Amino acid sequence: MPNAAVRRTSPASERNQGPILAELQRWLPPTGRMLEIAAGTGQHAVHFAAGLPGWHWQASDPDADALGSIVAWAAAQPAANLLLPPLQLDVLATPWPVESNGDQATVPWDAIFCANMLHIAPWACCAALMQGAARLLSPAGKLITYGPYLVDGEPTAPGNLAFDADLRERNPAWGIRWLHEVVAEARQAGLALQQRVAMPANNLLLVFGRTATPA
Ligand SMILES: C[S@@+](CC[C@H](N)C(=O)[O-])C[C@H]1O[C@@H](n2cnc3c(N)ncnc32)[C@H](O)[C@@H]1O
Repeated sequence: MPNAAVRRTSPASERNQGPILAELQRWLPPTGRMLEIAAGTGQHAVHFAAGLPGWHWQASDPDADALGSIVAWAAAQPAANLLLPPLQLDVLATPWPVESNGDQATVPWDAIFCANMLHIAPWACCAALMQGAARLLSPAGKLITYGPYLVDGEPTAPGNLAFDADLRERNPAWGIRWLHEVVAEARQAGLALQQRVAMPANNLLLVFGRTATPA
């Protein structure tokens, strides 16, 4: 259940929402159903829903304060297509609340979006995200992730090295993930990396689908 609706803000979300939306508009079809994992403040949800008017947007997060913030953002910036109240969803808790319930069949999702969770959650969340996406995506569906990654054979920006050290100090289970290890977890679940887009501030946007060849 959401906690009382206090609208939280993230300066990083304000900075990155424009560039991320441009990529979502580039890689997604005009209409569909989106499940957002680890939605956080809800700023992304309202901005992306407004910029993708053909999409129904389902934000989720395990944290009750985050759910309250998403409700507050949705109320402050109503988007005609942001119809669905946020769901409490922890990727580690299977089945996810959007999955089959009794005789009600699970409806596949056209896309799943997850920004900035993999480095600030235990590594097991990566496999859980990939396996959940593989269970829930439609045949042509996309999993789109955004965040910082370490890339084998490529220098890591000093800012990301410092961020990684800070994360690991705050929680030894956290830390910026190796791109090839994330891709291996995806492959294990039946998903392939289709697009890798360099984003501002040394972040990457990754597009995964069920085949290696871009649709
Ligand atoms: C740094 S915030 C990112 C929020 C938002 N996506 C953004 O980019 O601004 C990380 C989010 O991951 C969520 N999270 C942590 N563990 C999770 C899990 N096991 N399943 C789903 N979300 C999780 C947290 O509740 C938090 O909202």
